[in-house]
This record gives sequence, C-alpha cells and structure tokens, in this order.
Amino acid sequence: MSHLEMHQFICRSDNYGLLVHDHQSGATASVDAPDASVIESELKRRGWQLTHIFTTHHHTDHVEGNLALREQFGSIIVGPKLEAEKIPGIRKQVEGGDTFTWAGREVKVFACPGHTKGHIAYLIKSEFSLFAADTVFSLGCGRVFEGTFEEMFHSVNQFRTLSPSTYLYCGHEYTEANGRFAMTVEPGNRALQQRVGAVTKLRQDGKMTCPTTIGEELKTNPFLRCDSPEIRRNLNMEAATDAEVFAELRKRKDNFK
Ligand SMILES: [Fe+2]
Repeated sequence: MSHLEMHQFICRSDNYGLLVHDHQSGATASVDAPDASVIESELKRRGWQLTHIFTTHHHTDHVEGNLALREQFGSIIVGPKLEAEKIPGIRKQVEGGDTFTWAGREVKVFACPGHTKGHIAYLIKSEFSLFAADTVFSLGCGRVFEGTFEEMFHSVNQFRTLSPSTYLYCGHEYTEANGRFAMTVEPGNRALQQRVGAVTKLRQDGKMTCPTTIGEELKTNPFLRCDSPEIRRNLNMEAATDAEVFAELRKRKDNFK
C-alpha cells in the first residue's frame, strides 16, 4: 500500500488547511474546512475530488467551508457526535474510542474535551499521522473554552504514549508565539532553545512549522512536560500534581503578551 499524500497550506490568517489523498483509491479528505474557496482551488490544482471532511470541532474557522464543499463535491462529513447539531452537513457521527476505515486504513478517534466539549482528534496509525486541531499545537495547546483545565490536561497528555515518530498536524500556525511563552517557563531546555531558533528561521523564510512530531513535542512543549523539574521550579509548584501545573501554565499563557 502506498503512502497517503498530505498537502498542508495556510488559510484565513493562521488556520492550517490539510488535504489527505490516497492515490490508489482517489479518496481525499480535508481535515476541517476553514475556507471552501482556498480548499477548492488546492483540490483543483491537483485534480483531486473531495470525498470526505474530517471535522474536529464546531468553531466557525473549522467548519465554515463544510456546506459549500459538500455542495460542490458531495463530500461525506465526519464529525463529533457530541457537537453534531453544530457541525454543518454532518453525516457520520463519531466519538472517542471509535475506529472507522478510510481509504483502506484504520482511523482512530480520540475524545479531546477542553477547547470545546466535543472536540475530537483523528489518528491514522499506519501513516503515523495525528490530526489534533486545536487540542495540541506545536509548543502549545488550545485555549480552554468549554471544558475544565483537568479535562484539557488529559486531552493533551493522552498523546504522550503515541509513537514519538507520529506526525502532529495542528489547527493553527501559532508556534512562534508558543515558543516565546515556552521559553519563559523552561529557558534552560536545550531542545526548546534549538526548536525556537529553528522556528524563527522557518517563519522568517515564510515557511510552516507543522507538522511536528510527538517526539519533538515531548522534548519541548511545556503542556506535555508538566513533570519537568525546571518548569515546576519556575512556577514554584514543586509539590503540585501534573494537572495543577498544566492549569497554571494554561492560565499564564492566556495572559501572556
Ligand atoms: Fe477552535
């Protein structure tokens, strides 16, 4: 079986668009649909037909293109059961723990409450590819809007056990700002220093910083490193639980300029 082709691009201002294409069957999925016209032109340029949309959560900047793309391509929209009434055009409802077959591959669904109540992530294990949208970002994580910090801690940290070589595809290009915050809580982390340097260079060159990998994030992302002695020392939270450290990090990031 040949590998899936991943085509990633920026749309709106900082949303990632992502098309996943199987050359064998011709199946193509868009991970979320931030902007129908940009996605349509990316599809046309490649001669791909959009067979599916994998929706992660109900925020407008992730679902706004659903109906126009479905109209154009007859795409089947897969999305979170817990937010089904807020996902335009949803046809197949899935929830954490579900698996389904797409392009001959198993797709696993993870529940990620926190950013929204019903946020889900998709993993295509055979491709080592995780589509985490607004749950885990490179060097950061999503804001907690609808769930609790405790829920978000579990949603983010459930991915620590995935293979380190798993590619992490995110919903937004926020890495540079995330890196600035990460350096305030773990400035002595060599891997983080190097990543921040690499990210600065990528952004200066107008390049995207994702996908990253789970392994890279485990070494650098403070929200996956709540057990780091340096972070705990800097927060003055040496005796706290990892979830408490996570909550403090998230609150500080909310107020970080
Ligand atoms: Fe969102």
